[in-house]
Amino acid sequence: MNQFKTPVMTVENLIKDIARQFYEADLSFSHGTDNAVDESAYLVFGYLGLDHDSTESTYQKSISKRDVDAIELLCKKRIDRKIPVAYIINQAWFAGLEFFVDQRVLIPRSPIAELIHNQFKPWIDLDCERRALDLGTGSGCIAIAIATYFSKISIDAIDYSKDALEVAAINIKKHLLESRVNLIESNFFESLSAAKDLYQYDLIVSNPPYVNKEDISIMPMEFHHEPIIGLASGDDGLESVNIILQDAGDYLRENGILIVEVGNSQRALQEKYPKLPFVWLDFEMGGTGVFLLTKEDLNNHNKH
Ligand SMILES: C[S@@+](CC[C@H](N)C(=O)[O-])C[C@H]1O[C@@H](n2cnc3c(N)ncnc32)[C@H](O)[C@@H]1O
Repeated sequence: MNQFKTPVMTVENLIKDIARQFYEADLSFSHGTDNAVDESAYLVFGYLGLDHDSTESTYQKSISKRDVDAIELLCKKRIDRKIPVAYIINQAWFAGLEFFVDQRVLIPRSPIAELIHNQFKPWIDLDCERRALDLGTGSGCIAIAIATYFSKISIDAIDYSKDALEVAAINIKKHLLESRVNLIESNFFESLSAAKDLYQYDLIVSNPPYVNKEDISIMPMEFHHEPIIGLASGDDGLESVNIILQDAGDYLRENGILIVEVGNSQRALQEKYPKLPFVWLDFEMGGTGVFLLTKEDLNNHNKH
């Protein structure tokens, strides 16, 4: 018998060890966490399939040598190739729900999760039969979260990327929402335009691409693993939102609202449309650059 037993590696110790390596490496934490310890816990919990509502006993669990070695290899992949953890373990969290992700879709992180958590109050009551559209659905996270938390809502989810639609379909199936989340392949509203009367919504929500050319050129390596169609939006970052502002009014019912994330393109947008009465929403859990407009605002604007 070997008298020199290898010390047992616990979940807690492995998280600390990997966090130290992440901390010392030149990493960007912007895909679901904002620091080395959380990023490490994301990797270790995700790989081991541990419950995130875990107790102290989870942290004291011992990990087999085989799992430690495997996680160390994934840690190396994170550091050497700057691949976000979400892609390494094919798992992301949004609005408290788990999603399958891979490099065909952007990693969910929109502050729109907080609006869903707050039931879109006071802007719209989704506890009655209503129809919504998620424009640029990616992994399907926004559409699926809305359908999960509001049982009377049916929602269409558009994307131009066939790859993204494949991933969204995986997530819709995973969350058993095939009957209420309907995928549509479309370049923004194009595929709906021949039958506008059939595509009328109480809520249009969108996290479209909005990164400008300059920011694309300086963004950290981690973002380059994401599909460029999910990020880039022309020189000024406004290409997508221009189309949305132009067309969304035609697809909103009376009293319908449009909610769009434009992140740090907020200022460019305000400068370009000084007369549009954007309502910029506040977030307690972080995030800025999400506006709300009504159908009336859009129609008035487009008349001129
Ligand atoms: C910023 S990502 C958001 C994905 C997801 N809604 C989220 O919050 O994680 C933008 C999405 O818009 C899609 N997209 C880009 N251009 C589009 C277009 N012309 N028409 C429809 N969708 C488009 C991209 O494929 C991508 O999935």
